[in-house]
Amino acid sequence: MIAQTLVTLALATPSLAAAALRIFPLGASVTYGVGSPAGNSYRKPLLDILASANHTVTYVGRSRNGNFPNNQVEATSGFVLSQIAAAARIATPMFLPNLILIEAGTNDCNSGALVTDAGTNMTVLIEDLWGLSPGVTIVVAALGVNKVEAQDVCRVDVNAQYRGMVERLAGNGGRVVLADMRSAEGFTVEDLADTRHPNDRGYAKMAVVWNRGIGEALGKGMVGMPVGDGNSLDGGEEMVLAVGALN
Ligand SMILES: *[C@@H]1O[C@H](CO)[C@@H](O)[C@H](O)[C@H]1NC(C)=O
Ligand SMILES: *[C@@H]1O[C@H](CO)[C@@H](O)[C@H](O)[C@H]1NC(C)=O
Repeated sequence: MIAQTLVTLALATPSLAAAALRIFPLGASVTYGVGSPAGNSYRKPLLDILASANHTVTYVGRSRNGNFPNNQVEATSGFVLSQIAAAARIATPMFLPNLILIEAGTNDCNSGALVTDAGTNMTVLIEDLWGLSPGVTIVVAALGVNKVEAQDVCRVDVNAQYRGMVERLAGNGGRVVLADMRSAEGFTVEDLADTRHPNDRGYAKMAVVWNRGIGEALGKGMVGMPVGDGNSLDGGEEMVLAVGALN
């Protein structure tokens, strides 16, 4: 019985070596932190979880939001998948993250119609990102709940596309995992600030789900060391690589 309990605990909390994580939080309003009074989104609670596991975390991106110092982010409210992809193609070579967290497709569902090419386009984006930051691991969110029924039906359909995509890409050896915001640890409609954005309780739950995905990637040995210092603006090697990648 005691042995059983110990085995269960060991499985629940695999001890992973401390990693250096240069994280590119990519998305729209949720990633930016709408609905979170200080704008911290899931990023601050995730930072706290990762730091407590002794991981070294630097967030990178061209914007900042939140009342904590390490608050860089690549997210614009209202952006649809194609806009998020365009932003990512510009910014990824500037920072060379070793980990990208993507939450995209929520706003594509705003009309209530199904978005049948979300999985295809996300696949193209992910394959591009692997080239733009060599060695990078990607965690893709299966989209969380939305109170507007037609939009939620669309999100569930997008999630099925993302799930199939991740299985296919990872099955081919790709560095990608899914973080399902509708899993038991994810936020519910009770954790929303409005019809669509989590409140800070919901963002804390998102952080737990992201951490689960990051732990899966670390456990599978997907995550390598970041390259350079993560800031092309200092004239470092990211710029050289960025120019090479864009040519
Ligand atoms: C984090 O590092 C501290 C100090 O070295 C150590 O005591 C602690 O056990 C580590 N925690 C984890 C989760 O590895
Ligand atoms: C998917 O990509 C195609 C080709 O670029 C584009 O026409 C379409 O609007 C995109 N769909 C989404 C949901 O981004």
